[in-house]
Amino acid sequence: MPCTENTLRKAAQTLLDGGLVVFPTETVYGLGGDALNKQAISRIYNVKSRPLGHPLIVHFSSLGSLNIWTQNIPEYAVKLAKSFWPGPMTLILPRTGTAKDYITGKQNCVGVRIPDQKIALSLLREFEKMGGLGVAAPSANRFGKISPTSAKNVFEDLDKYLAKNDLILNDGICQIGLESTIIDCRFSKPQILRPGPITEKMIHDLCNLQITLPINNSKKRLRVSGSLKKHYAPQAKVFLDGIPRENDGLIALSTHDTPEGVIRLANPKNVQEFANQLYSALRLGDKMNIKKIFVYPPSGIGLELAIKDRLIKML
Ligand code: TXA
Ligand code: MG
Repeated sequence: MPCTENTLRKAAQTLLDGGLVVFPTETVYGLGGDALNKQAISRIYNVKSRPLGHPLIVHFSSLGSLNIWTQNIPEYAVKLAKSFWPGPMTLILPRTGTAKDYITGKQNCVGVRIPDQKIALSLLREFEKMGGLGVAAPSANRFGKISPTSAKNVFEDLDKYLAKNDLILNDGICQIGLESTIIDCRFSKPQILRPGPITEKMIHDLCNLQITLPINNSKKRLRVSGSLKKHYAPQAKVFLDGIPRENDGLIALSTHDTPEGVIRLANPKNVQEFANQLYSALRLGDKMNIKKIFVYPPSGIGLELAIKDRLIKML
């Protein structure tokens, strides 16, 4: 559904009535439900076929809502919020009583984010004007599959699982195309749980603190999406090195040539375009029933790390 003012009002009302609304963000499309409505949240799990207990990110439109959902916020987290919101960053913070177990997976912390996308922000503002406090939204894909970067992707993945009154808001292709950076802000130093568009350097430059990366195999580790071994996976087998042969797929920077007979799925000119086209190119490969897709991710320590992180989980 295209997004007129009327549609946005209808969408906000749908959320308040316990329905689900798929909405665009600058990262990927989210499957939204009223974060205070247990039934709506339970439907999100059903539609995604996501295991219970996997926590959800609460989205709101302004910094004023931070204290509704979180408490004991370290100074560096306030800095991060003020600098990078609205934006592709999720902060994990100690929760208030407003963030219930069914949002946090019974953990005593909650993930929060202000997205930087005009339809998302308008929807959240409208919802808050009507009395809502926050919209819980995971990526709008079936569990373990690739996140959707267009409304068309969502429609193909979820339409048959959504109810008649649920809505999909269409605002074309997501500007970034990879999920937000998740930063654990419960301790004296930030810890990146999921690399993303807000990079380690950006965080370090702002906070001047040492940043920890996730500790693998720790039982104490938070349940972060993609921390499962296989995640975000297409049907095709993904290879990060080796040489593609006839009828294999290839995703690489435009400086790489396409060997004869190989199916070029994306031809991005730079790392931003790479991130932006990666998921749709993998989806295209699946649609074409390609069995092997070779992906040559650009090297670097910025957004490149987020691209690598997602790809490694597909292997
Ligand atoms: O870019 C994004 O972050 C998108 C858009 C829609 O905002 N959302 C997204 O949500 O990627 P999701 O659920 O697919 O991945 C976010 C992950 C969750 O799987 C969860 O593991 C982690 O964030 N998370 C959320 N709340 C958490 C919490 N309280 N503690 C630990 N991890 C949490
Ligand atoms: Mg997801």
